[in-house]
Amino acid sequence: PVLVVDYGAQYAQLIARRVREADVYSEVVPHTYSTEQLLAKNPAAIILSGGPSSVYAEGAPKVDADLFEAGVPVFGICYGFQAMAAAMGGKVAKTGLREYGSTDARAVGGSRSILEGTPDEQNTWMSHGDSVQEAPEGFDVLASTAGAPVAAFANEAKGLYGVQWHPEVKHSAHGQAVLENFLFKGAKLERSWTTGNIVEEQVARIRAQVGNSRVICGLSGGVDSAVAAALVQRAVGDQLTCVFVDHGLLREGEAEQVERDFVAATGVNLYVANEQERFLSALAGVSDPETKRKIIGREFIRAFEEAERAIMSKAEAEGEPIRFLVQGTLYPDVVESGGGEGAANIKSHHNVGGLPEDMKFELVEPLRALFKDEVRAVGAELGLPAEIVGRQPFPGPGLGIRIVGDVTQERLDLLRRADAIARAELTSAGLDDEVWQMPVVLLADVRSVGVQGDGRTYGHPIVLRPVSSEDAMTADWSRLPYDLLARISNRITNEVDGINRVVLDVTSKPPGTIEWE
Ligand code: XMP
Repeated sequence: PVLVVDYGAQYAQLIARRVREADVYSEVVPHTYSTEQLLAKNPAAIILSGGPSSVYAEGAPKVDADLFEAGVPVFGICYGFQAMAAAMGGKVAKTGLREYGSTDARAVGGSRSILEGTPDEQNTWMSHGDSVQEAPEGFDVLASTAGAPVAAFANEAKGLYGVQWHPEVKHSAHGQAVLENFLFKGAKLERSWTTGNIVEEQVARIRAQVGNSRVICGLSGGVDSAVAAALVQRAVGDQLTCVFVDHGLLREGEAEQVERDFVAATGVNLYVANEQERFLSALAGVSDPETKRKIIGREFIRAFEEAERAIMSKAEAEGEPIRFLVQGTLYPDVVESGGGEGAANIKSHHNVGGLPEDMKFELVEPLRALFKDEVRAVGAELGLPAEIVGRQPFPGPGLGIRIVGDVTQERLDLLRRADAIARAELTSAGLDDEVWQMPVVLLADVRSVGVQGDGRTYGHPIVLRPVSSEDAMTADWSRLPYDLLARISNRITNEVDGINRVVLDVTSKPPGTIEWE
């Protein structure tokens, strides 16, 4: 792999994604790894990421000079660039001249090296206080900026390269070209991490792990479980049984997507547990959001275990007990980060709708190495329907936490119809990709007066909560076109009896959350 050493800024995962976009496999490792540990992973190349420290600050993560003598090509970015300069005997200093944001870098000297094919002047994205004043011996200076006399350098003989800017962010105009020059010219790698290869490799791994044993997998309706199941199905066919617990809290058409479309696309064995009644009665009269979440989580686990026992006893009767459980864990959840808080911690309390932790199965995690966009590409490669592969995030407790008030069948039906209209209009306006997700919330405990035809109405409001976001940790409300909002509002109030107002949530996160409960 190409190893991306994480110096604690949020850029390491982004660098790894950009490397993979160039069809080269890459992994993030913490900066606490010794040179020996790095080399033990057999890296084809190493990229040192940016980070918040100054190389001379006390406790700043160090880079051992022996890493640069190991014969592995290394690319230093921002902090990694300065650390490389310092370790190789160059001069790094605080000039008092900070560069932050968009900065012009100018090519200097004869050799273009990793800047090959990029213009003399290029717009780059910078974020640094220290700068490299003198390149180490044996290094050619490739570019400079107003605040950094040495903004890029190369030592071709040793395969060492670095840039002061962040080529991984889209604001650096030729960032991807520079990164690819390092990968393909500097490190002479080949493009091999393609969707087709990922599928092949994962299928082979699953076969090796599972052998002839039986496997079980829970489907939620979401992308991750669907793609994980489809990969396992591709690998071991009928040894896999999928379980779909229909808790009755999904949106319109989602249960059919699993029961009909997913099965048609994959030919998977599906066990459906129709548990709508069970969830409704467990939720009866409950309006506190946390209590709802707990109830839904608890009932989900019980329902799944019952389904599992039913499948298990059949399998045992056939002499083939189930040994493995599929989980759709993604790469960002398993990265050992040098930066401390990974996305995983923040999300962990969101695992309602997940499976019990004490299940006695061995885990099959075919998505463990993948980023979300790779998961979608694999899903498409496996022939899953676009509605499943492109699905926006949807919470495990489903519509149960989008009804403010207690959950009843009637309220679920109202919300489902309003939500279906809102989603259909968003899709036909072509804005699915711009909007991260658009919760539609029923304020069941609120009523307001309206007028429709000749009569006075006393109905409920529906809230539209369209947000744009990168990762759901922070979000902004989406500026949807007024005519789209008008269409959604007209249709919902006309077509859904009992709803007489549509309101728009214009709160960012923070201080709001994306969901209302
Ligand atoms: P909030 O509302 O905290 O949501 O801003 C952040 C993201 O997480 C989703 N979400 C959940 N997902 N189980 C889940 O699987 C949950 O209990 C849950 N609650 C919120 C939410 O839709 C958004 O994408």
